[in-house]
Amino acid sequence: ALPSELGELVTSHMREIPDFPTLGVLFRDISPLFAAGEDFARFIRMLAAHYRGRIDAIAGLESRGFPLAAPLAVELGLPMIMIRKAGKLPGPVLREDYELEYATASMEIQPFTVAEDQRVLIVDDVLATGGTANASINLIERSGGIAQEFLVLMELTDLGGRARLPERVACQALLTL
Ligand code: PRP
Ligand code: MG
Repeated sequence: ALPSELGELVTSHMREIPDFPTLGVLFRDISPLFAAGEDFARFIRMLAAHYRGRIDAIAGLESRGFPLAAPLAVELGLPMIMIRKAGKLPGPVLREDYELEYATASMEIQPFTVAEDQRVLIVDDVLATGGTANASINLIERSGGIAQEFLVLMELTDLGGRARLPERVACQALLTL
């Protein structure tokens, strides 16, 4: 299992902002973790120790997944894959559309960045409805990789995202809120 100290580091380096980005939403901001210097370095090293040998590449979800996936990939000496909001990556790209509360969103990947049967760890900051997570799992699999594990710093359990993920993907949350 992941060391509990990881969740403690997230808690101690997180800000809670009421009514952002809209009224009634309590936004959990993990920017302080990225700014924490040696604590962030220790955080990345602990994650690396947990995932070493179990995965072949790390995919980060735009945008807060990027500063998690990149240092982890470097620490493990593994490839880093970007999954971005639609329209940001030059083609050819694969695209997945998914439903938000009042709109649709889209994520894209450059499939050449994923090797055949590569075991991929997908990383993001928050699991909410699971829409973003599901789209990213589909993009990795459509690119020929294996969506082996999904890691988020925080899981908002009220929104039921975990139940919407395929059972074959092991989902780990450092904090459940
Ligand atoms: C947030 C969060 C996750 C996603 C989770 O990203 O960073 O990526 O929502 O929500 P879901 O489980 O309901 O899909 P957002 O789209 O706000 O963009 P950002 O990461 O670029 O800020
Ligand atoms: Mg996001």
